[in-house]
Amino acid sequence: MGKTKALFVLAGAMVLAFGLGCSGKADEAETGGTTNNTNSGGTAMVTASQVSDLLNARCTTCHSGAQAKEDLHLDSIEGFLKGGEHGAVVVAGNAAESKVLKHMRGDEGVKRMPPPPNDPLTAEEIKMVEDWINAGAKAE
Ligand code: HEC
Repeated sequence: MGKTKALFVLAGAMVLAFGLGCSGKADEAETGGTTNNTNSGGTAMVTASQVSDLLNARCTTCHSGAQAKEDLHLDSIEGFLKGGEHGAVVVAGNAAESKVLKHMRGDEGVKRMPPPPNDPLTAEEIKMVEDWINAGAKAE
């Protein structure tokens, strides 16, 4: 008898846990769905001002002004397209060849940007820059 009761309690706990797990997942899927919709498919229309907002928010503390790291000025799209002392970081129309994305992802052998302890960019933010580059990296 004791065993049966324990089984019931266990089953009840599992149903509860399962239920919670499900509702948690549903929430996640909902928020994920919303962000994905703005970027649906592979070719979302990304504007230069969206990209420059991101750079201004996450990069210009180190990449602007006289002390800009690597002489890479990210406070304007022009500076982003021009690149730094090691040359271009953006290859218009070719995200795969664009060094900046390797830095944003923190690919092997490359220093992640922004560097720790700053939070990395989100996958959506990186995708946005990638889409913009693949669409020709238009400055306006
Ligand atoms: C906390 C300061 C800091 C922030 C914020 C920062 N960077 Fe950097 N960045 C550096 C430093 C330092 C280097 C040089 C890294 C090295 O080689 O050691 C660098 C190098 C780079 C390079 C390589 C340049 C080259 O020509 O080799 C790229 C590209 C770059 N950063 C892009 C970005 C982007 C894009 C952001 C924002 C998403 C960003 N960085 C944010 C400090 C920063």
